[in-house]
Amino acid sequence: MPVTIVIGSQWGDEGKGKIVDMLSDKIDIVARYQGGANAGHTICFDDKTFVLHLVPSGIFHKGVTCVIGNGVVIDPVALMEEVRTIRELGFEVDGRLLISHNAHLIMPYHKRIEEAIERARDDGAIGTTGRGIGPAYVDKFARTGIRVVDLLDRDVLRKKLTISIEQKNTVLQSVYGAEKLDVDAIIDEYVEFDKIIDPFVTDTTEFLCRSHAEGKRILAEGAQGSLLDVDFGTYPYVTSSHPTAGGCCTGLGLPPTAVDSVIGIVKAYSTRVGNGPFPTELSDGVGKHLASVGHEFGATTGRPRRCGWIDLVALNYASMINGFTELCITKLDVLSGLSEIKVCTGYRYNGKLSRRFPSEAETLTSVEPVYESFEGWSEDISDVKRVADLPATAVTYLRFLSEYLNVPINTVSTGPKRVETIVSASEGIGAVFSNSTNTVG
Ligand code: IMP
Repeated sequence: MPVTIVIGSQWGDEGKGKIVDMLSDKIDIVARYQGGANAGHTICFDDKTFVLHLVPSGIFHKGVTCVIGNGVVIDPVALMEEVRTIRELGFEVDGRLLISHNAHLIMPYHKRIEEAIERARDDGAIGTTGRGIGPAYVDKFARTGIRVVDLLDRDVLRKKLTISIEQKNTVLQSVYGAEKLDVDAIIDEYVEFDKIIDPFVTDTTEFLCRSHAEGKRILAEGAQGSLLDVDFGTYPYVTSSHPTAGGCCTGLGLPPTAVDSVIGIVKAYSTRVGNGPFPTELSDGVGKHLASVGHEFGATTGRPRRCGWIDLVALNYASMINGFTELCITKLDVLSGLSEIKVCTGYRYNGKLSRRFPSEAETLTSVEPVYESFEGWSEDISDVKRVADLPATAVTYLRFLSEYLNVPINTVSTGPKRVETIVSASEGIGAVFSNSTNTVG
């Protein structure tokens, strides 16, 4: 059975949590492959809202095994808190949550260093989530990181931590003039995690490859969004991992040949949290409509998200690097009530029209978006279950997106609840809009 990757196509917060939760009905394993507790995956069911930061969104489906892969950086404090909450909600975690022994750990000094770096950047700050993600990946690639497997041997952990914290203290004090960390306090806290984390730790790569060979259905869950990828995103205003499709293989240890489909989650408009270029950003009444109707506040930090029109130049780029086999459009309901909807189809740069996405921040800051305009709709569409019952103008909008990107749209989300979703085929996912089959209209 194939592996399906679910990816955010924009700057994150596209609503992946809901879609992974929905798809979890039909799969055996959900595996998270990158990022850390910077992510916030929101899931609504039984009239309640849950936000997961580290544990994959499949955990609320009893038959699903959840994997935190080697590519994730784990904050043990945040993880244990999340596990406690999931248990309190009545969901079993033992035997259902597997953590890679090779995943790296976020330590208190990563957050402190990040804070100091962001402060020193001043106007050029990235606007990170403050979860220590960047410095943890720096340590991973500098080969000075602490891994989950290190927690299991107290003596090794003590030795590695002492060296690491002493080095960090030198940097914190001499470079950033920040306070020193208490070596003993950190060691005492972290050695306690071995007991708690031990039952979950395993060789997840071996588990995933074996499960794949046995025909289990695996869903690889990306966090953040493609335009925040450290290589392909709007560098340096990016996260420090690979939320794109390529990250799935290195972040889980599954071979590329195992991957069969890549679902791009696309919000019906654009948002960005943190700093960095955002060509279609709106600071007018429409921007305010999107922010307030879409409840656009970060699920992790509570920061207001910047809002703007959908950007097909950026999405075409995301589709190119991820190889989307289908799209899921989320938050279409948020556009209800707007008389006009704009779609960015090109950039004007140095007087010339271009359809290329310049991921380098300096150029992207200077482009002027070129829009096509569509008629809006006023109807509340949250109860709509079939494409045929959507307002004609909404159908035109969706068809345009699918045709421009040349990828079928198979799912349309019209509200945060599981039921507020249009899926075309009764057997799960079938094409709602497809260029080849043109199933609508
Ligand atoms: P970091 O991942 O905390 O290092 O933050 C780097 C950039 O990625 C900042 O602009 C953050 O706002 C953004 N970012 C990180 N995680 C998310 C997310 O889950 N959704 C949206 N933006 C994110």
